[in-house]
Amino acid sequence: MLAHAGRGATLHVTTDGHPAQLVDLCSMTENTILGLNDPWVKLKQISYLLSERPHYVTIRMGSDLYYRVANRVLRCFDPAGRGEYVVNLRECTGSGAVEAALHAAWKAAAVQPGRRKLASFKGGFHGSNLGGILASEHQAHRGSGRVLVDRADNVEFLPVPRADDDGRLTEETLATLAALDRDGDQYFAVILEPIPWRNAVHVVPTEFLRRLREICTRKSICLIFDELQNGFGYTGTISYSEICGVRPDIAVMGKGLTSGHGALAIVVAARALKEFAAPFGFKSNSGSMLSLVAVDAVLDRLLGMDPAEAPTLPAWLPPRLADELRTGLLESVYPRAVGMIDEMLARLRQRFPELAGPEKGLGLMRGLVMLGPDRRPSELRAADAARMCLANGVHVRQADTAIFIKPCMVISQSEIDQAYGALTRTFEQIERADR
Ligand SMILES: Cc1ncc(COP(=O)(O)O)c(C=O)c1O
Repeated sequence: MLAHAGRGATLHVTTDGHPAQLVDLCSMTENTILGLNDPWVKLKQISYLLSERPHYVTIRMGSDLYYRVANRVLRCFDPAGRGEYVVNLRECTGSGAVEAALHAAWKAAAVQPGRRKLASFKGGFHGSNLGGILASEHQAHRGSGRVLVDRADNVEFLPVPRADDDGRLTEETLATLAALDRDGDQYFAVILEPIPWRNAVHVVPTEFLRRLREICTRKSICLIFDELQNGFGYTGTISYSEICGVRPDIAVMGKGLTSGHGALAIVVAARALKEFAAPFGFKSNSGSMLSLVAVDAVLDRLLGMDPAEAPTLPAWLPPRLADELRTGLLESVYPRAVGMIDEMLARLRQRFPELAGPEKGLGLMRGLVMLGPDRRPSELRAADAARMCLANGVHVRQADTAIFIKPCMVISQSEIDQAYGALTRTFEQIERADR
């Protein structure tokens, strides 16, 4: 399948030479919060390109855009502007940013040599460089001998934190917290994804995050949120900390950041964690200003422009785009997009009760558990469904026993209708094959 054009959630492709249209319910593999070819991001990039402003700035020099983007991101973590956090804007990939976060936590803990352990969680994924691989339990290559180093004896993989149906943390989860509390002096960091989607789009219970925060503070463990997946809009905010009320010591973000208009990942760290040892962080190709222009434009789109700058919008801008830029999509469009996904999933579950199991996830990071012929959650079924969906005109991914749905925020009702049609065709085909 070749993708050759697209706008929003719609993708024009050719399959075996035949033209076709696809609704992308996974925002180009989770990267494009604004869908394809966002007009504002492109406009800002074009105008920057046509100017004489530097398209690249070496690490030895500053740039007003660095400070502008850093300050905008910082306000999401520190609205009162107390200067509690710092930002690193020099990583090109999420994996690089995760590694930088680990280095920062490691350096801060160096004064206590007994603090060597990293706590991570089962099913979690934190990247594909060595730091990311060592911190992840979810690695297809583990043990295959194909990875230079695939395990470290100081990384503990803890059970996925869960709550019962009544919202109480499970015994196993309480035991995890108790163990961390007991052995906390041995850990330099805990890393976790607030929504580890590879675990069938599981949402970590907020109560767990609260208690974990309390232990990490008391035991001086660095709490790292890997927000590569959920950050920058997919759950309605820039950072998950704004939803759960738990502030990490370090947050790592990428993907939605530039909405696919350039490679960049960022690390937001508490001031006490602002250093990592040389040579980590010296990235030669990390000064592309076009990626920063993109983040700045994505922030305009998600949060709305600075009111002082709104009068500078050109009069020829389409009125809807201008309106959206005044209010910000998180306020104006996100609830509508979530509502459309809610409704689509509810309709699918109602129409295919024997195939479509529980709904998982949050906001625009959603999962639909697929049931096998024995009516139990089935990985195989989810894999089949994801594969067949593509042939039927909708892109979803497999997430363990669920199909993963992570649409761009600007998805339209007609795109949702098309996606529903393609999902329906897929589910009907599965049902027919079962008979
Ligand atoms: C949760 C999480 N962390 C880290 C990464 C690594 O990001 P990248 O692929 O940009 O290196 C990913 C990539 O999928 C991810 O999902």
